[in-house]
Amino acid sequence: MKEPQVHAIPDGAGEPDGDLCIRTLAMPADTNANGDIFGGWLLSQMDVGGGVFASKIAKSRTVTVAIEAMNFRKAVYVGDLVSVYANLVRIGRTSLTVHLEAWVLRRKEEQPILVTDGNFTYVSIDDDGNPQPVRRVEPPIAT
Ligand SMILES: CC(C)(COP(=O)(O)OP(=O)(O)OC[C@H]1O[C@@H](n2cnc3c(N)ncnc32)[C@H](O)[C@@H]1OP(=O)(O)O)[C@@H](O)C(=O)NCCC(=O)NCCS
Repeated sequence: MKEPQVHAIPDGAGEPDGDLCIRTLAMPADTNANGDIFGGWLLSQMDVGGGVFASKIAKSRTVTVAIEAMNFRKAVYVGDLVSVYANLVRIGRTSLTVHLEAWVLRRKEEQPILVTDGNFTYVSIDDDGNPQPVRRVEPPIAT
């Protein structure tokens, strides 16, 4: 089995880096009282994307235990195409930390813009919701 690679946190300069884990369009229903996109909506898109990425690595259900170093850098507008990219930055015993970046492509622009980033920690859980080791030893295949 291929080992998951742990990366340094990208600097957010230039181009998006990492695995694309979710792409969606910012819609009028996702706006705040100012008419811009609500930060909580963006955070939830990042969490969903990061959860998919974490579960792929852990090969199990995962839950979000912490969100750190969250930056809201630029506003997001209705019609922006939002893409979330993931980089694995740490694997612990039962948890793993993913650096997530949301980039938008605006309708009249060609270059994607980094709008948010943060470190999301997920815990691998078993069927009862208890933490379980991320790196589980596979049973030997009977020959
Ligand atoms: C996540 C959960 C299963 C952890 O259970 P727990 O009994 O606290 O487990 P532990 O104390 O053994 O911690 C498990 C791992 O999480 C890590 N962890 C716990 N709290 C943390 C925090 N605040 N920040 C970062 N890591 C944390 C621990 O360091 C440990 O990691 P490791 O095994 O890699 O060293 C439990 O807290 C839970 O179910 N929380 C709710 C999750 C949820 O509903 N998320 C969605 C929220 S909207």
